[in-house]
Amino acid sequence: MLKVGLTGGIGCGKSTAADLFAELGAPVIDADLISHELVKPGAPALLEISRQFGPDILTADGALDRDKMRELVFSRPACKKQLEAILHPLVYTEMQRLMKILDYPYVILCIPLLLETNMQHFVDRILVIDCPVDEQIKRVKLRSRHSEETIKAIVASQVSREQRLSAADDIIDNSGDATKLAEHIKKLHNLYL
Ligand SMILES: Nc1ncnc2c1ncn2[C@@H]1O[C@H](COP(=O)(O)OP(=O)(O)O)[C@@H](O)[C@H]1O
Ligand SMILES: [Mg+2]
Repeated sequence: MLKVGLTGGIGCGKSTAADLFAELGAPVIDADLISHELVKPGAPALLEISRQFGPDILTADGALDRDKMRELVFSRPACKKQLEAILHPLVYTEMQRLMKILDYPYVILCIPLLLETNMQHFVDRILVIDCPVDEQIKRVKLRSRHSEETIKAIVASQVSREQRLSAADDIIDNSGDATKLAEHIKKLHNLYL
């Protein structure tokens, strides 16, 4: 089974693209979804996080305090590394487990931080969903309650557009409208099949 790593900067349209592949019948495994599952109340990874970061990292009802965690990770690089060391191996193990039960010519692995975490070797082919930074910021502003400053900081924490494009085997230019995106996905779907 061909493993296609779908990646791109925040707001470039990864989730939208992944949904379009799924509509065409392709299996999609989403690293973000898995990492959310891993830190649900009572999950082993959450227990490990609270052991290492202290119980203050949890909300009153035992869930991960995401705002607190985000703040910590942004202000202290060592904490970011520590959190990633807990989560990333578990995410990849879970992706591998899910892939074993698939029967399809290819799988879309939606991995936002594929390049940032140097996991290129985990996939056979890299598909980058690309759009200009201004457009990224505009789209994330519409979708979330983040300030422009926060969005810019997130963009700056990710690999540059140029680095991403140079790592790509396939590129989808998602600066156009939704119809264009769907057409492009259909073509790639046929290529991957
Ligand atoms: N071609 C497009 N034109 C306009 N808006 C788009 C387009 N593609 C995606 N969007 C919107 O931009 C936002 C970010 O897209 P999303 O797929 O969530 O990005 P990502 O998963 O890469 O962060 C969403 O609100 C989505 O509906
Ligand atoms: Mg997304």
